Amino acid sequence: MRSRALQALGTAAAVGGGAFAYGSLVERNWFALRRFEVPVLAAGLAPLRILHISDAHLTPRRHLLMSWIRSLDALEPDLVVNTGDSIAHPQAIEPFMEALGPLLDRPGVFVYGSNDLYSPQPRNPVRYLWETSARAHRHRHRPDMPWPELGAAMTDAGWLDANNQRGRIKAADLDIEVAGVHDSHTNRDRYDHVAGPADPAADLRLGVMHSPEPRVMDRFAADGYNLLLAGHTHGGQLRLPLYGALVSNCGLDPRMARGLHRYPGGTPGAGWPGTWLHVSAGLGTSPWAPIRFCCRPEATLLTLVPRIG
Ligand SMILES: [Fe+2]
Repeated sequence: MRSRALQALGTAAAVGGGAFAYGSLVERNWFALRRFEVPVLAAGLAPLRILHISDAHLTPRRHLLMSWIRSLDALEPDLVVNTGDSIAHPQAIEPFMEALGPLLDRPGVFVYGSNDLYSPQPRNPVRYLWETSARAHRHRHRPDMPWPELGAAMTDAGWLDANNQRGRIKAADLDIEVAGVHDSHTNRDRYDHVAGPADPAADLRLGVMHSPEPRVMDRFAADGYNLLLAGHTHGGQLRLPLYGALVSNCGLDPRMARGLHRYPGGTPGAGWPGTWLHVSAGLGTSPWAPIRFCCRPEATLLTLVPRIG
């Protein structure tokens, strides 16, 4: 009996060890490019390609990740949107900018995530089952990461800082109104700073945030933003084969923890195309949990096309 129990324990340890080795050595570097078509433009407009990147959590030695990000320029996106958690090490700004490389010559937008402000700390991933990681930030009041330098590097390259700010971008001859919020996971979002109806004359009304919190997205939708981009979820942090995400680490329904979805709400009326939400499962991992499982690291090419009807 005892030997059977020991055998079962040994098998469980071997399966667990194998899964960890696969998740940290294979899947963590098995980058995926996702593609979605989003029918959100008015009839007659030419398609617009948006490259959505998020949650790189870059540390200076992740050379495979850096060169994969750099290679995404070959997709020739018209606009790049970075929804935060770009760095996970104080020395990672230069490597991150080098990874972006030629993408910085394209129109771009960014917001911060909590990990751009606070250095990573060890956390038991099982805790995500009963609480979000926002709790871990409650006792950390002063950011210890060089986030102003990170933001300055991207704005110096011409990218729009959308942290609690609105702006206007021209990309592929389209006029895009952009509004974004700072990280809601650490309560830095100030939607009131960007509140108000989006310009109906804009070809696209784009809402950008790190964490897809319903309290923020409901207001974007009510103001007429028709495409919302977010990251933060890491596809659910924990995913089970054939089931999917168990949690979203925020107020979002775990079934929407990654991919493209219709977002309910808004102001339906003549010509209202509704609101679409794309959540990126992200490119990286916390340095303290260097593993991806059933959720390959990803970037997404969204091709916006005219809506039907
Ligand atoms: Fe993240």
